[in-house]
Amino acid sequence: MAEATGNIDASSFGIDIPVSNPVYELKGSNNYDWGMKDRLSRVFNPTSGHTVMLAFDHGYIMGPTSGLERIDLSILPLVNHADCLMCTRGILRSCIPPVHNKPIALRCSAGSTVLTELNDECIGVEIEDALRLNASMMAVMVEVGGKYEALTIRNLSRMIETGYRYGVPTLGVTAVGRDMARDARYLGMASRVLAENGAQVVKTYYCEDGFETVTAGCPVPIVVAGGKKIPERDALNLAYRAIDLGAAGVDMGRNIFQAEHPQAMIQAVRAIVHDSQTVDVAYEMYNDLKDT
Ligand code: R5P
Repeated sequence: MAEATGNIDASSFGIDIPVSNPVYELKGSNNYDWGMKDRLSRVFNPTSGHTVMLAFDHGYIMGPTSGLERIDLSILPLVNHADCLMCTRGILRSCIPPVHNKPIALRCSAGSTVLTELNDECIGVEIEDALRLNASMMAVMVEVGGKYEALTIRNLSRMIETGYRYGVPTLGVTAVGRDMARDARYLGMASRVLAENGAQVVKTYYCEDGFETVTAGCPVPIVVAGGKKIPERDALNLAYRAIDLGAAGVDMGRNIFQAEHPQAMIQAVRAIVHDSQTVDVAYEMYNDLKDT
C-alpha cells in the first residue's frame, strides 16, 4: 500500500498540452463503450483497419466438412496467421488450445443442419458462455427475405441487446434466402438491415457488380465470406476486389482451409488485406510459400 506521507509532489500536469481525445476510427464505431471498442480492436488491426478472420464453423450445419475433418491437423497450423477465429464453442473447447490469444468470433445462433431446413435458428449460445470463452464477437445468422426472416432478426436483436449490456459486439451474418439473388441490391439491403438493427459488424458476400454500393450503404464494417472453393488466384482476386471496394476484411473459410496449400493461402490473403498488395503479387507469394 502506498505511504500517505513523504511522497514526491505531483507536478507533471502538462499545463500547455491539450488533452488528446482521439476518434475511434473503425467505421461507425466511435460512439461505443470502451469494452466494445477494445474487443473490436482485437479483431480489426488498428493500423490497417482490416481483418483476416478464419472461418471454420461450417460443421455446425454440415458435420465434418472437407478440410475440417481434423481441426488439430488442418486449422491449428493456420491459427497464428489469422486475426480472428470464427468457430463454434464445441470446436473451440475441444480442439483449440487456449494459448494462442486470438480473438474469437463465436457462432452463437444454431438450430438446423443441411439435412433439414437451414436457417430455422435460435440463440444457441447465451452471452454468459460467450464471456466465459472470452469471445470478442458473437455471430448470429439472419435470413433476410426468407421464411425465417422475423425469427432470425429477433435472434439478432436479442444478442445485440445482451451484447450492449456487457460490451460484446455482434457479428450479423447474412444468409441469402433461397429465392434471393446474390446481387448488390439484395446484399446491400440485407447488410443495411442488420446494421440498422444494431449489428456492429456485418458479414456478407462479395458480388461482381455494384459491391461498392453494399459497403457504402452499410454504416458499419463489412467482412466478406469466401464462399465455395474456387481456384486460389480467383479467391485472391475476390479478396482484393472486396477490400478495394470498401470491405474491412474477409471472413474466409473454404478458400483457405480447402486450398491446396492452406498456410501459403492465408498468408497471401493477408498480403492483400493488410498490405494492399495486388493479386499478382499475392499469387506469386502463394506460389513461393507453397514450396517452403
Ligand atoms: C457458414 O457456415 C459459415 O458462416 C461460414 O463461416 C461462412 O460461410 C464463411 O466461410 P466460407 O468462406 O467457407 O464461405
